[in-house]
Amino acid sequence: MKIVVLNHKMNLNYEEIKKYIKALENYKDKVVIMPSSIYAGKFIDNNYKTGLQNIYCEDKGMFTGEISPMQAKSLGIKYVLIGHSERRNIFKEDDELINKKVKSALKNNLKVILCIGDNLNENINEALLKQITNDLKYINEDVIIAYEPVYAIGTGQVPSVQDIEKRITYIKSLVNTKVLYGGSINSNNIKELNKISNLDGYLIGSSSLDIEEVIKILEVVV
Ligand code: 13P
Repeated sequence: MKIVVLNHKMNLNYEEIKKYIKALENYKDKVVIMPSSIYAGKFIDNNYKTGLQNIYCEDKGMFTGEISPMQAKSLGIKYVLIGHSERRNIFKEDDELINKKVKSALKNNLKVILCIGDNLNENINEALLKQITNDLKYINEDVIIAYEPVYAIGTGQVPSVQDIEKRITYIKSLVNTKVLYGGSINSNNIKELNKISNLDGYLIGSSSLDIEEVIKILEVVV
């Protein structure tokens, strides 16, 4: 079964979250929800597979505003997203910090989804190799990888099926693991994307906020 991860980013208010939880009731086994962390407990209480969009690299201490993998684990969080391009670009997270976060999350038995991606105008394989090598340095445990070309995030600009397939093959030649695709996935392009034979799932941003879109996508994928 393909993994479908719904990344809400910093969206939805509490009333919308309550509606969302009810509306996806029949689909909860088919998705991993990554809400704003303040709502994570609510999803867990309603038996959703729940993940965090970010995590810190220490278990506890004087790190105002951060959430630790140990805390996440104790709440029932199953997955964490690490290294999303918005964290890398807006919050200036570098490969060294990302590597520490991955290690710390794995130590707490969380399933890590490491996001990697290329910018336009750079050598794609070099960019992916650099991120994989640095982010997974000294790590032997299984880590799921999400391939998100930076220019495809929130833009409607999706690479061709052949190009995505090529990148997935390349990533799998470096790391023997599950690979997800993310970037402008919606109910119109999911049929085409679902033809990619070596893909293990999807990481969905904007379309994950719209219940009807989510259901249409799931009907194709699952
Ligand atoms: P969009 O689906 O909005 O392009 O976002 C992709 C993403 O960044 C998921 O993590």
